[in-house]
Amino acid sequence: MDRKRFLLGLAFFLMAQSVFAEEIRNVELLAASCASCHGTRGHSVAGTPSLAGLDKLYFLEQMEQFITNGRISTVMHHHASGYTEKEIELLASFFSKQKKP
Ligand code: HEC
Repeated sequence: MDRKRFLLGLAFFLMAQSVFAEEIRNVELLAASCASCHGTRGHSVAGTPSLAGLDKLYFLEQMEQFITNGRISTVMHHHASGYTEKEIELLASFFSKQKKP
């Protein structure tokens, strides 16, 4: 591989890395706003269901149901409606990777 190609490849690699790192920071920030009810990283200490270790698909379905009122909720309709599809997807991945309580 010539030097120019190598540098171009390296630049793309670093760009992809920083986008990835930014997503991680963002999802931690997003998840922090769920912590007041669902606990740190989804480990609930009160009566609210824990999110840690929830199956990603189940999580996505519940969020969808809250938004459309298919699942009647006390507060989650309001919370779920405040996020984009992409953010919900990131949250679903994040919580599914946390250890079950
Ligand atoms: C004000 C408290 C509160 C906040 C903040 C909150 N939740 Fe909830 N969440 C609840 C309650 C209470 C329930 C049970 C359903 C209901 O009554 O709304 C619930 C249920 C859920 C469920 C379904 C869990 C299951 O096992 O079926 C998911 C998924 C969820 N919340 C995700 C989130 C996410 C993601 C956030 C942050 C973006 C969040 N919640 C923020 C109170 C909260």
